Amino acid sequence: MRVILAGATGWAGSAVARGIARSKDLQLVAAVARTAAGQALGAAIGQPTLTATVHATANAALTTPCDVFVEFTKPDAAKANIMAALEAGAHVVVGTSGLSDADYAEIDTVARRTGRGVLACGNFALTVVLLQRFAEIAARYLDHFEIIDYAHEDKPDAPSGTARELAFRLGQVKAPHSGVPLDQVRGPREARGATLNGVQVHSVRLPGYVIGVEVVFGAPGQRLHLAHHAGSSAEPYVDGTLLAIRQVATLEGEHRGFHSVTSL
Ligand SMILES: NC(=O)c1ccc[n+]([C@@H]2O[C@H](COP(=O)([O-])OP(=O)(O)OC[C@H]3O[C@@H](n4cnc5c(N)ncnc54)[C@H](OP(=O)(O)O)[C@@H]3O)[C@@H](O)[C@H]2O)c1
Repeated sequence: MRVILAGATGWAGSAVARGIARSKDLQLVAAVARTAAGQALGAAIGQPTLTATVHATANAALTTPCDVFVEFTKPDAAKANIMAALEAGAHVVVGTSGLSDADYAEIDTVARRTGRGVLACGNFALTVVLLQRFAEIAARYLDHFEIIDYAHEDKPDAPSGTARELAFRLGQVKAPHSGVPLDQVRGPREARGATLNGVQVHSVRLPGYVIGVEVVFGAPGQRLHLAHHAGSSAEPYVDGTLLAIRQVATLEGEHRGFHSVTSL
């Protein structure tokens, strides 16, 4: 399977590139990143077996035929990259966070027109995939819940992709109850967070955090907290991304969440 990786020199992308280098069934045929453009990816990230050329843009990389395009750049570049990949006939795996529901609706339209699959996961780590599943179960039984999203102080997008995806999935289970309607809150409305798919999401951005997410379920006289906090390595995201690359061709249109291709 031929893969183009956008963001291949970054924190997450370089770990995915090394994972592809270790895989017998995946071949990295081109990469995207501006600073290392023109170099072999292996020279840029210290992995000599990766001989694919780095291109400054997705359009330039997509002149090399590929089966799957993997997106790990930044929110401002991601949507155009995904659209270019679909128009070039590739299936797409999206790790980049920050795209909105409206962006994904547009992506879905193009994916269905081109007959390709798009699999977007806000977080490929197994522990987050499990948290999402556990939270969906809890939301079936508990009517009050809110999400808190934690990340490093310079994360450009808020809420995180992990929190957005969780709000999307929990909102599909049910609309949580709210004691005081938001338009009747006394004080700044922002104090109650952003409403995503009917779910309140609060984003904390402070040094000392990598990325984390917590869902708090409240019921009379009791509370349930489901929390995930990532360490500093990008390695937990690699296996999930590789599985997504192998499975995305089984999909048509845009699908969000790892559960689209696994029983989790
Ligand atoms: N889904 C998941 O499991 C998961 C896990 C980790 C991270 N993420 C997300 O993945 C994204 C990347 O995170 P990161 O921490 O790896 O970022 P990073 O270290 O800053 O890496 C970004 C990469 O994208 C390239 N890039 C940035 N803007 C570009 C543009 N306009 N055109 C072409 N290439 C561009 C960068 O190279 P140049 O600057 O040289 O162009 C670099 O290779 C973020 O949205 C993050 O939230 C998702």
